Amino acid sequence: MRLKDKVAVITGGASGMGKDTVLRFLDEGANIVIADYNADTGAATVEQARNAGHGDAVVFVRTDVAVEADVQAMLQAALDSFGGLDIVFNNAGVGGAVGPLTETTVEDWDYTFDVLAKGVFLGIKHAARIMRSQARGGSIINTASIAGLSGDGGPLVYSAAKAAVISLSQSAAVELASDRIRVNAICPGFIATPLAEQGRPEATRAAFAKSQPWPDYGRGEHIAGAALFLASDDAEFVTGEALIVDGGLTAAGPELSKKFSRSSGRKARRAGITRGSTGEPPVLRDLE
Ligand SMILES: NC(=O)c1ccc[n+]([C@@H]2O[C@H](COP(=O)([O-])OP(=O)(O)OC[C@H]3O[C@@H](n4cnc5c(N)ncnc54)[C@H](O)[C@@H]3O)[C@@H](O)[C@H]2O)c1
Repeated sequence: MRLKDKVAVITGGASGMGKDTVLRFLDEGANIVIADYNADTGAATVEQARNAGHGDAVVFVRTDVAVEADVQAMLQAALDSFGGLDIVFNNAGVGGAVGPLTETTVEDWDYTFDVLAKGVFLGIKHAARIMRSQARGGSIINTASIAGLSGDGGPLVYSAAKAAVISLSQSAAVELASDRIRVNAICPGFIATPLAEQGRPEATRAAFAKSQPWPDYGRGEHIAGAALFLASDDAEFVTGEALIVDGGLTAAGPELSKKFSRSSGRKARRAGITRGSTGEPPVLRDLE
């Protein structure tokens, strides 16, 4: 068990990839505080964990990650229930503001940034205080997104907030390294969770399976596995990283092979060498 007796707080742990991480971390021996805005799904997740035999290892704290006192209370719950704090997964999120830039209100901008960016800031701030006082290091993991890496990966405000999460993770990693507190981000691609599926799981999964080079759709378990690595001692020298978990979506980049060329990619019909404007001729052969 890779997290035996570790104590983790997981925000957004009542649904989607947060819930899958809760269940994986429990299987790996951790004690968990689930911190989520939704008390109904929170209770259902605790019930599921109990049915899986993890009754004593999980508690739920109703939390709004955008409210500083709530964040302090969720972390205090780890100390009160399990006697310490080793891992914080700042993962809670919403889609937030949608629509064109010119139609985006300040109110919707603020809500989106409050949950996605301020919530992560508060989680890092108060986790770091506790971890520093314990003097036994720690791992802080923040859910960013591939939306934070380019201009067309998600709604505008969401993308800006996720870029902020990547930057916060890097800055905090530098500041907290001397205390052996690691801070990393995960950048998921398209992951089939309630947030992404919006009540249409079949259609979403079919679309997601075709949206990246990897032939299956992304699942919450894929993010749980990445979070487990970052939480575990196997990642002892990994800090300030933004780990992309997207089935090769961002690696594919501009997808030239789909748009222009007959000579690159697995389906290319020719192979050989081209020498540009050198005046030297290309040497190409047709493929079967
Ligand atoms: N699903 C994707 O394709 C995808 C891709 C990239 C990033 N993400 C990010 O992954 C994270 C988890 O999303 P998910 O897809 O599992 O969604 P989800 O909706 O299944 O789960 C998100 C959870 O966060 C909780 N939450 C929302 N606002 C909160 C708040 N203010 N305080 C506390 N809890 C709050 C919700 O109640 C919910 O339980 C989010 O940060 C999201 O932006 C998702």
